[in-house]
Amino acid sequence: MSLPELLAPIADDMKAVDAVIRARLDSEVVLIRTIGDYIVGAGGKRMRPAMLLAVARAMGYTGTHHHLLAGVVEFIHTATLLHDDVVDESDMRRGRSTANAVFGNAASVLVGDYLYSRSFEMMVETRSMPAMQVLSAATTIIAEGEVLQLLNVHDPDVSMERYLQVVRYKTAKLFEAAAQVGAIIAGAGPDVEEGAAAFGRHVGTAFQLIDDVLDYSGDADALGKNVGDDLREGKPTMPLIHVMENGTPAQRDLIKDAIRTGEADFAAVAQAIQAPGALEYTRQAAVKEAELAREALAVFPNSIFQETLLKFCSFAVERDR
Ligand code: IPE
Ligand code: IPE
Ligand code: MG
Ligand code: MG
Repeated sequence: MSLPELLAPIADDMKAVDAVIRARLDSEVVLIRTIGDYIVGAGGKRMRPAMLLAVARAMGYTGTHHHLLAGVVEFIHTATLLHDDVVDESDMRRGRSTANAVFGNAASVLVGDYLYSRSFEMMVETRSMPAMQVLSAATTIIAEGEVLQLLNVHDPDVSMERYLQVVRYKTAKLFEAAAQVGAIIAGAGPDVEEGAAAFGRHVGTAFQLIDDVLDYSGDADALGKNVGDDLREGKPTMPLIHVMENGTPAQRDLIKDAIRTGEADFAAVAQAIQAPGALEYTRQAAVKEAELAREALAVFPNSIFQETLLKFCSFAVERDR
């Protein structure tokens, strides 16, 4: 299933969100516009705003705040990417050189800050205190997730539990907030709001688990970012933790050393990962999360938008980009 196909029922809304994003990137400071246009112009799947829109539509929303709030979510996401690529020292994103590679770390960090501030300004315009509560809390959690992950790098003793906490914080939380805000602005009751949040949380977890699989098995051209980055950074992700828990002593030592130094041979590690089925194990964990996401959608009335939400669950697992 292609992304445009998946997004077809909300295509008009997505266009409106694109217009919000472009308008709100405007600044009298030229470097802000340049970097903003650079990263936004490279595209991006826009999964999080799409989920907010589809949830709001599934609950019959007819107001005008969904486009603005979807823009807020994409700005928060874009800010985290600008900062994340500095921290991870990544040089490819969305099929082009990262902003830090082109404009430098300082400019990337500062424009990331600008996007966060802009997003807060935008959410205040909606005057929806519950939406602001959810989005501002999510922003804090993402920052905590990135810091927790910083403490985990080069540490081969990171447990599955600590890894999953990072996944929930750095990635799943924003998916959760996006879906929840869609329900909030549509005036949904507590059951639907909680169902939307759970849907987002599980889709977001599946999404990051697959991201961690693709870092070993994906295609850089399709992904628009380098594979092997996690290994180079010494990031203990689920595939590696699974080998350390289930591999032979030799495989375990290879992975531990790889995490400590970040200098292992990618081919050797990729092979050690295949033996105990670590990528398949991680994929299955994502499949389970996607199933939980589907179950959470039971609180939604049947509609073409609920079908779209169901398709997100499959896309999170089947994606190659
Ligand atoms: C990248 O997110 C960061 C992760 C949480 C893995 P996306 O894969 O949604 O990035 P874009 O916006 O499509 O580039
Ligand atoms: C993505 O982390 C989460 C955030 C940006 C907050 P990753 O470091 O795993 O994502 P990529 O691989 O750089 O997209
Ligand atoms: Mg990264
Ligand atoms: Mg990654």
